Amino acid sequence: MPRWALLIPAAGSGRRMGGRKKPLLRYGGKPLILHALAAFRGIRDVVIAVPHGEVARWKRLLRVRATFVEGGARRQDSVAAALAAAPDATHVLVHDAARPFPTRAVVKRVMEATLRAGAAIPGLAVTDTLKKVRGGVIVGTVAREGLWRVQTPQGARADWLREAFARATRFRWDVTDEAGLLERCGRGVAMVEGDPGNVKVTTPADWKLLQGRGGR
Ligand code: CTP
Ligand code: MG
Repeated sequence: MPRWALLIPAAGSGRRMGGRKKPLLRYGGKPLILHALAAFRGIRDVVIAVPHGEVARWKRLLRVRATFVEGGARRQDSVAAALAAAPDATHVLVHDAARPFPTRAVVKRVMEATLRAGAAIPGLAVTDTLKKVRGGVIVGTVAREGLWRVQTPQGARADWLREAFARATRFRWDVTDEAGLLERCGRGVAMVEGDPGNVKVTTPADWKLLQGRGGR
């Protein structure tokens, strides 16, 4: 039987949101991070990586059954810290705290593909035309064939991910998602269909769009 753990990196500083900690922003009467948790009902091992020195405060604010750990300087450091706090997991899901609406269907697709392939992430095929721009001028058109925008939750066998983080430390790899580490280890990572509503809050404009969904 697989034993799943949910790892939530929530230790970012929200620089692009003007220094506001996105996971704690109130949306629909509760902190943003709590919205995402609803889609992962059934996973009992939850680890949340929070900003340095804020474990006690976040515990008090969120009041959820989870293990709280201190995150690190980069997102990957926060995920590594969370993974270290889930030693019994055979499989993990990593989900951004700033992505409030993962659907049950996406979570299920990722979990099934992870059990089948060892690792899987959700994404959406790029539909826009892509331009390469330098100094405000277009220098080329990028073929969108085979390009996907990735989301979370990203799933992986825990042993694969532990090995990948060990190598990342040894070789000083710098990545933006877990799949990036696994790819460097030569692991096959499956891509499954994400959901257009599974957006990440990155900028004040994203936050404003969310208000339009009626969460406030
Ligand atoms: N994250 C983290 N530890 C870090 C950096 C990011 O746990 N050192 C988390 C964020 O809290 C967020 C997720 O990773 O839930 C995705 O990161 P991002 O959207 O970039 O959030 P921030 O890093 O907070 O924002 P910014 O990059 O604008 O500062
Ligand atoms: Mg960031």
